[in-house]
Amino acid sequence: MRAYLDWNATTPPLAEVLDAMREAAGRAWANPSSVHADGRAARAVIEDARASVAALAGTDPRDVVFTSGGTEANNLALRSAFSTGGAPAALVTSRLEHPSVTRVAEALEREGRARVRWLEVTPDGAIDLDDLDRALEAAPALVTVQAVNHETGVLSPVAEVIARARAAGVRVHVDAVQGWGKIDVPAGWDTASVAPHKMRGPKGIGALATRAGARLEPVLAGGSQEKGIRPGTIDAALAAGFGVAARIAARSAARWAALGPLRDRIERELLAIDAPRGRARVAGAPARRAPHVSNLIWPGWIGAELVAALDLEGVSVSSGAACSAGTVEPSPVLLAMLGAADAARGVRVSIGDATTEDDASRAVRAFRAVLGR
Ligand SMILES: Cc1ncc(COP(=O)(O)O)c(C=O)c1O
Repeated sequence: MRAYLDWNATTPPLAEVLDAMREAAGRAWANPSSVHADGRAARAVIEDARASVAALAGTDPRDVVFTSGGTEANNLALRSAFSTGGAPAALVTSRLEHPSVTRVAEALEREGRARVRWLEVTPDGAIDLDDLDRALEAAPALVTVQAVNHETGVLSPVAEVIARARAAGVRVHVDAVQGWGKIDVPAGWDTASVAPHKMRGPKGIGALATRAGARLEPVLAGGSQEKGIRPGTIDAALAAGFGVAARIAARSAARWAALGPLRDRIERELLAIDAPRGRARVAGAPARRAPHVSNLIWPGWIGAELVAALDLEGVSVSSGAACSAGTVEPSPVLLAMLGAADAARGVRVSIGDATTEDDASRAVRAFRAVLGR
């Protein structure tokens, strides 16, 4: 029996999600853009899902655009904010963000469309709000901030960012991919990203939610689906799974909050292991963190090596974001927080609402076995 403690990479789909997907795949397989009855059946599934995603995000269904996932939603939000010509406007963000934000920011700068203002980052993995105030003085076009850090679980001060940006008349994008269903994501953003596979739904679909009337510019050229903002045929089966996951996520934050004691137990027991090369410490520990994530820095270890050894012991954890797994690059998040010496030493343990005390015990035993060698 393996212990899966990599819920920030992706979550196991719920049985209700799989049932809805199976049902929609067999019944609503037609092209949702077709005007005939078969197409309309697929369209109905998609619109039902859109309503559920809108309810989760607290916006109108007309203000939800389906995408292929969180990455595309972030690309769409950032590129839409810098689509016009003229002098490049400032984009305020930080090195704590997911690559689907930081890499787009870098690309916009290369393309001469934006000047990126990287916010200062505190050693406990949060953005510096005083530095945000300084950045806002330059009247940027957009501030983009994540709800929950994908590597450390540190919560961004999203409500404060929105309040300060609003007061300065600046738009805000929130990458809330790791937040929905786990914490109460603050309202008031201009755009926000959703990825159902992080909340027990399917991969291959996501959404960008906007406040009423926000203007988006397509990233892809093609047909007129999603009001021309996101061309391409949407799969009703994926949408059905997304809809169910969104409905469940809308009332699951309390269940995730209850994971705190289990995460704390894992952390306590791992920190108590006296590894020959030194004790672990928790990245981002003094900051406010989501209840299900722990990123431990192991002196003398390369995180990726520890992850590989734990895998052989039947435990799935990760070092850094899943999208950079297999690379030898240090984590950009840990680099920004802690510097080069510790940036490759992190091992992320992330649990979910199906994680058991037995999973935790198995993981701790595996860490002890590996670290004791
Ligand atoms: C904070 C954050 N944003 C965006 C993404 C990208 O989402 P997706 O994998 O759906 O493209 C991820 C995925 O790891 C994430 O953790």
